[in-house]
Amino acid sequence: MKIVIIGSGYVGLVTAACFSEVGLDVWCADVDEARVERLRRGECPIFEPGLPELLSRNLQAGRLHFVTSAAECVEGAEAVFIAVGTPEGEDGRADVSHVLEAARSVGRVLNGYAVIIVKSTVPVGTTAMAGRAIAEELRARGVEVPFDMASNPEFLKEGHAVDDFMTPDRVIIGVESARARDMMSELYRPFMMTNDRMLFMDSTSAELTKYAANAMLATRISFMNDIANLCERVGARVDLVRKGIGMDRRIGPKFLYAGCGYGGSCFPKDVKALIATAGQHGYEMEVLRAVERVNERQKRLLFDKLAGCLGEDLKGATIAVWGLAFKPGTDDLREAPSLVLVRQLLEAGCRVRVFDPVAMENARKVLGNDVFFAADMYDAALGADALAVVTEWKEFRLPGWKRLRGAMRRPVIVDGRNIYDRERVRSEGFDYCRVG
Ligand SMILES: NC(=O)c1ccc[n+]([C@@H]2O[C@H](COP(=O)([O-])OP(=O)(O)OC[C@H]3O[C@@H](n4cnc5c(N)ncnc54)[C@H](O)[C@@H]3O)[C@@H](O)[C@H]2O)c1
Repeated sequence: MKIVIIGSGYVGLVTAACFSEVGLDVWCADVDEARVERLRRGECPIFEPGLPELLSRNLQAGRLHFVTSAAECVEGAEAVFIAVGTPEGEDGRADVSHVLEAARSVGRVLNGYAVIIVKSTVPVGTTAMAGRAIAEELRARGVEVPFDMASNPEFLKEGHAVDDFMTPDRVIIGVESARARDMMSELYRPFMMTNDRMLFMDSTSAELTKYAANAMLATRISFMNDIANLCERVGARVDLVRKGIGMDRRIGPKFLYAGCGYGGSCFPKDVKALIATAGQHGYEMEVLRAVERVNERQKRLLFDKLAGCLGEDLKGATIAVWGLAFKPGTDDLREAPSLVLVRQLLEAGCRVRVFDPVAMENARKVLGNDVFFAADMYDAALGADALAVVTEWKEFRLPGWKRLRGAMRRPVIVDGRNIYDRERVRSEGFDYCRVG
């Protein structure tokens, strides 16, 4: 069976690689010519564990193809996934123009029945809107081609994307026809061999499920950050409070970690978009407004803690930053708390030395020559007055304490992800400060 994926970013590429791995003939279309060129050469343009191997195996097997337009590949496809970006637009609303343009590009060439699936995270009503855009293009061509729309939001996590796609917790599918439902069942059956985790619903509910899931996760993070800040004021320890509540099966242990705020390409924009959708329907999402406010404050917390440790005026201080990616396992810097901290430090007149195991290349594009890009984590700490740990990469978890102590001018660690044991770090002669 031939399928098309429009957009070859984090979601499109993983979707394409995984569908080709189970035997489908997958064509991937992206308007970014340089990206397509790299993909054709077998280069993986993003850091995602397991993805390069899948890409090269399926390219070699002839099951995976990369092109620069839908026009080159939609003919004969039975399913077309739209997986283009939906960045933050005006007033926090999701900008769905890429989705609609992708839909139009399909409508301009569609010549036989296909299910068109919106995989991008989109506000309610967008799948139907994309369907109308396709219908308009077909009318303009003067042809009648049957097609169905489906909403199939993606829940993969960067850094675990291939595993998440191969063995998903659940696959949410919004369809309005039996034919589309059968097609979606067939496509996802290879990923459901042990038990069926496909949940069918209408497209509107499917679209909203994605936003509700991200909003719930963001809420847990901001809630724990609020609790952590209170812990600091009353002398409690948030790591103990976290364990204490996480053992309650109604609450569960996941997504309860306090830290320096959430970032990434999804939570910030999706929370804003959900608030905006509600606003358009005359409803105020009060919980989510607070979730956002807490997160914005939390992203600035490390700077305040550094100032507290080193004295109010940070001018001229050298600060080492470990971790730039918005979370471990990815080179994605979108909305990363590290960027907020680095900018605050630069504004305060600090010298900043940064290190990240995989995000250095992307960081250079964003931070330019304003910071020193260190060769490794100890190089970043060289001559530093303080070290801020912003991303909890595994290799930061058990550093050589003596080597680190020897590299730094002053032994101060501000741990934005609570990865160290406070007694242990203090026993090595460091001033140590964490969240909560
Ligand atoms: N990144 C994640 O972890 C994640 C997880 C779940 C859902 N999502 C959602 O999936 C969608 C895609 O996210 P992403 O992170 O993969 O985005 P991305 O920015 O990494 O990739 C989008 C790709 O689409 C291409 N594109 C844009 N317009 C196009 C068009 N008209 N035709 C062909 N290609 C086009 C771009 O060139 C780019 O390569 C978003 O809605 C996002 O919210 C992302």
